[in-house]
Amino acid sequence: MIKLNLRLDFQNPIGTATKMLYGGLVEHLGRCVYGGVYDPADPQADEEGFRKDVMATMRELKIAVARYPGGCFTDLWCWEDGVGPHRKARLDPAWKQLEPNTFGLHEFVHWCRKCEIEPMVTLNLSLRDALDAARLVEYCNFPGGTELSEQRKANGDSNPFGIKYFCLGNELYAPWEFGQCPPETYAVRARECAKVIKAISPDAKCLLCGCGYDNDWNRKVLEICYDHVDALSLHFGFGSNDPDEAFYHTLYVHEKTLRECADIIEAIRQSRKSERRVGIAIDEWIIWNGDDKAKGSLPYTVGMHLLEEDYSIREVLLCGAFLSRFLHGHCDCVDLACVAQLVNVIAPVRTAPGGVLWRQGNFYPMAYAARYGCGKSLRLSDLPQDLQASAILAENGELAVFVTNLHKEPCNMNLELGGGVAKGLLEAVTLHCEDEKAFNTPERSPLCPQKLTEAALTAKGDSVMATLPAHSWSCIRLNTQLAL
Ligand code: AHR
Repeated sequence: MIKLNLRLDFQNPIGTATKMLYGGLVEHLGRCVYGGVYDPADPQADEEGFRKDVMATMRELKIAVARYPGGCFTDLWCWEDGVGPHRKARLDPAWKQLEPNTFGLHEFVHWCRKCEIEPMVTLNLSLRDALDAARLVEYCNFPGGTELSEQRKANGDSNPFGIKYFCLGNELYAPWEFGQCPPETYAVRARECAKVIKAISPDAKCLLCGCGYDNDWNRKVLEICYDHVDALSLHFGFGSNDPDEAFYHTLYVHEKTLRECADIIEAIRQSRKSERRVGIAIDEWIIWNGDDKAKGSLPYTVGMHLLEEDYSIREVLLCGAFLSRFLHGHCDCVDLACVAQLVNVIAPVRTAPGGVLWRQGNFYPMAYAARYGCGKSLRLSDLPQDLQASAILAENGELAVFVTNLHKEPCNMNLELGGGVAKGLLEAVTLHCEDEKAFNTPERSPLCPQKLTEAALTAKGDSVMATLPAHSWSCIRLNTQLAL
């Protein structure tokens, strides 16, 4: 039995975890859009062809921001093909699919509105340039009186979309991208793009393409772009085919890169004596086997089954550990995060035709974090190896403690609040599964949180004692007198 004595420091929080940490990617890949988000033929489709069950699940997951349309898909994306009455079918060589463009910018923005999600658009800086990006921003955000803004109105949206977040390209450092280029080449293009975006849409936030495994790239692009961007985007992947040890160990590898990157940002800020804060946006965190063969193959078709991975308990635990350690643990520098992806493609939500939808196990740590994980992220006493935890104190005084026990033994947790602050237990749930290979299907949900039984939980005054199962993710919520 592992012992965990959790002491919380209410005085000196790490930072504030905001709802923007709980976003997701909607890429034109496989059945994320066609057959997931959008499926006019499905009985669940609304008048615009959006699946109502998917929208309800996005609201349940409290997704705050959605990144669109990619991902690698962006490399050949021409946004003009997906607006207006005449949509243009194109090849998508990035994922070897046929792209009908029946879902485009208008549909994405409407879908976001219905789901109460902030839209974020990735600009094609791979095979297009700053001028094309400027045209897109004008089309979306300019009120009227220009050809493009009038065209948007004619296409059904008299009000501007008001898109605030723009990603300046996707993974341009990577050999798998069309448009890969050296950092200096990319950075000059990105800087000019950010300048023109802000000239058209002054409130826009620009996310510079950083690299999750190469801080040299990050230093070089930041030195050129620092004065014009709002965040550096980093993508962090976890190999779902890796053996357990390597799979979980990746967290520490990425964490080292993240902290070094935060130091680089600070050093550049100081060297320029700049007042400007550049944050970090983890706008893709990915649990994927990374298999290139997962791509479609000839003949190119629409809505293929690509990257539809079934997640077992270890992906649930990785997800819980990531949310605690990365997002809550580094919210001093991480401003925004998106799971890649939201529906069907390496995703917490899956669908099948005929209104069938199910939640994968990793849905639950994400849903609890989004619902109860906004507020001050408190520092915790030293955690034993293989335990990841975080504690978030919300404005209304509710405290949520998230614990991921990666150990193959149960954990005896003693949570001491001290100082007579506890007002009562609100909820205590845990998710574990003895069958390491089990995953959720439309028929069965072995990966679903359960209430901690009375035998496993004692809450008295300012202390909570709980026995958390081996290989489990848990959330304990308390009321406190600490309204901020
Ligand atoms: O999410 C799948 C792919 O992973 C995205 O298209 C790409 O940006 C990342 O490498």
